[in-house]
Amino acid sequence: MDRRAIVDGLLADPPRVHEELYAPPELGVWLTERECYDFLADRTAPGASTLETGLGVSTALFLAAGAAHTCIVPSRTQVEALRRYCDERGISTTGLHVELGRSEDVLPGLGTDPVDVLFVDGSHGFPTPMIDWFYGGRRLRAGGIAVFDDRQLPAVAAVVDYLDVDPRWKPLARTQKWAAFERLADGNLAEDWYDQPFFTRRWTFRERVRGRVRRFLR
Ligand SMILES: C[S@@+](CC[C@H](N)C(=O)[O-])C[C@H]1O[C@@H](n2cnc3c(N)ncnc32)[C@H](O)[C@@H]1O
Repeated sequence: MDRRAIVDGLLADPPRVHEELYAPPELGVWLTERECYDFLADRTAPGASTLETGLGVSTALFLAAGAAHTCIVPSRTQVEALRRYCDERGISTTGLHVELGRSEDVLPGLGTDPVDVLFVDGSHGFPTPMIDWFYGGRRLRAGGIAVFDDRQLPAVAAVVDYLDVDPRWKPLARTQKWAAFERLADGNLAEDWYDQPFFTRRWTFRERVRGRVRRFLR
């Protein structure tokens, strides 16, 4: 099926999976922007290995696109609602693997099998998006894609700001709400500060003046 048609169908009739989370009552689901779904659909080839924190329209999208999809979410109710939605609309859930739990607890022990697309849209509280990136991102192959939703929130913005200066991550697309990067390297993301010479601290004017005064007085 045409990938854009998949998004059309999901947005016209979205899965009401977030009623327990006080989602807008007319939708019953927390959505991101249409462009983000289009981007994910374009980047998810049939058979792609995909990994997501949180669940929603995006989960149905990965399945409808034919991905082998892992979804980490703490709510059994949401998983059941999503499975029901897919069954009723003929979207196969054969490729769905659910890890029931909080991503910050689950991801560290989930192994390191390579993934093609990582979608970070679970808890947006500090430091979970960083944890999702650290343990999910290490599984991205070179050329794999990481997408972060709600980058207007500070914990997500901290990751996006870092990736913007790390030359091993190539910015691909973004709006005020979400951002996508291609990973240019592969392997573990654990390293020390001296492996990140591009990651420098921006001193405020006041700190610069204070530093000069201290040096002068020494
Ligand atoms: C904004 S919604 C996801 C929207 C979804 N991506 C979509 O396109 O419809 C956030 C999701 O993250 C889940 N969530 C909250 N805390 C989480 C955590 N610590 N780990 C994984 N998922 C979490 C929520 O239950 C909810 O399913």
